[in-house]
Amino acid sequence: MSEGIDLEELARDVLAPENVRLDRLERALPQIRSVLEGEDDAVALQASLACLLWEAMPQTNWCGFYRRVGPAMLAVGPYQGKMGCLRVAFDRGVCGAAARTQAVQRVADVQAFAGHVACDDRTRSELVVPVVSQGDLRAVLDLDSPFLDAFGSEESALLEALIRETFDRPGVVW
Ligand code: SME
Repeated sequence: MSEGIDLEELARDVLAPENVRLDRLERALPQIRSVLEGEDDAVALQASLACLLWEAMPQTNWCGFYRRVGPAMLAVGPYQGKMGCLRVAFDRGVCGAAARTQAVQRVADVQAFAGHVACDDRTRSELVVPVVSQGDLRAVLDLDSPFLDAFGSEESALLEALIRETFDRPGVVW
């Protein structure tokens, strides 16, 4: 089996209500966990998560990872969506804030976020989850949406837990 996850098709051009999105994500998560089980390679994990979360969260127009490539620099990693910025410094944008603070950034309106990086000017809201492994900031998971306020606090908490259990363990090969 390598056909991704079993979820009904959902339009990407309308924002489903939060309860519908949450129900879909909750049904996707056990399938995602079973796909990733036993894999330790960070790129294989990131690429598969980008693909599966893109399916599970159709409110996204960009879904993937920026990897830490220097003391204060991120470079693009595996993702789904339209072309994104290749590099984001820690002092720029929502991704930079997540990397710098190692705290989840849930931004309902990017225009109200000082220093937002407009890689795609259709993006209206973002959720960025830091990927910390054994105390080191390794990457961030960046989810962007063309809809305002497209990521709820419960979606955020579920993704935070998924990222922690996937990457914050000694066996992962970076
Ligand atoms: N939106 C991010 C930058 C990356 S891309 O848009 C894919 C930010 O402001 O951090």
